[in-house]
Amino acid sequence: MEFILSDTYEQMSGAAAEILAKELKRKPNAVFALPTGSTPIGTYQALAKQNREGQIDFSQGNFFNVDEYVGLSRESEQGYYHFLYTNLYQHVNVDLAKTHAPDGTAADPELAAIDYERQIDSLGGLDVAFLGIGRNGHIGFNEPADSLHYATYCVTLTESTIEANARFFASVDEMPKQALTIGIGTIMKADKIVMVAHGEDKAEAIRRLKEDTSLNTGFPSSLLRLHPDVTVVTTIK
Ligand code: PGA
Repeated sequence: MEFILSDTYEQMSGAAAEILAKELKRKPNAVFALPTGSTPIGTYQALAKQNREGQIDFSQGNFFNVDEYVGLSRESEQGYYHFLYTNLYQHVNVDLAKTHAPDGTAADPELAAIDYERQIDSLGGLDVAFLGIGRNGHIGFNEPADSLHYATYCVTLTESTIEANARFFASVDEMPKQALTIGIGTIMKADKIVMVAHGEDKAEAIRRLKEDTSLNTGFPSSLLRLHPDVTVVTTIK
């Protein structure tokens, strides 16, 4: 696991965007998993700038949301597909037919999860998994638990995550309590993993990722230690 330390949020975003842009140049039809959250917004802005300036082309790339809330549609403003549409897709020359998210409105979320994993597999799996990290060490919505899931699944969110994300909803009651997320196996099969982490509330999680060498399903990002190509770009010392 390689850590790249940046002085500022802008530098972190630029460094992460550089890595992702390089992958897109190397393989224009690469398959990416993309996260939601405050942290990756700057990376998406930097990628959009590169696209505007003609340095990278999104038209052949395939983009999969890392996760989506159960109960929210693609059009829902708090939904995660909508987040990627607003923060990235509408600013770049992406082919929207190549943008994917788990179906949060499916009558059977378990079937939607299986279908999503199939969609990723049908393109040969992920080339790049771009991730944030939760305060509790979650990646995607793979929450701390006694056991973790290999493939995309329907997860019940933890109190810590509900508390962290309720700010995006009118009240905590309106926040979905379940989500569909790509699994730990889906992530681990990616050729390359890139993580961004910024802010005081992530300091403990990053310290633990750096210093505690155990593999612990109670701290899901610790599993990334098993992967040969992980870059964590962070402002956290
Ligand atoms: P954040 O979320 O970027 O909004 O902090 C990251 C995460 O919880 O995975």
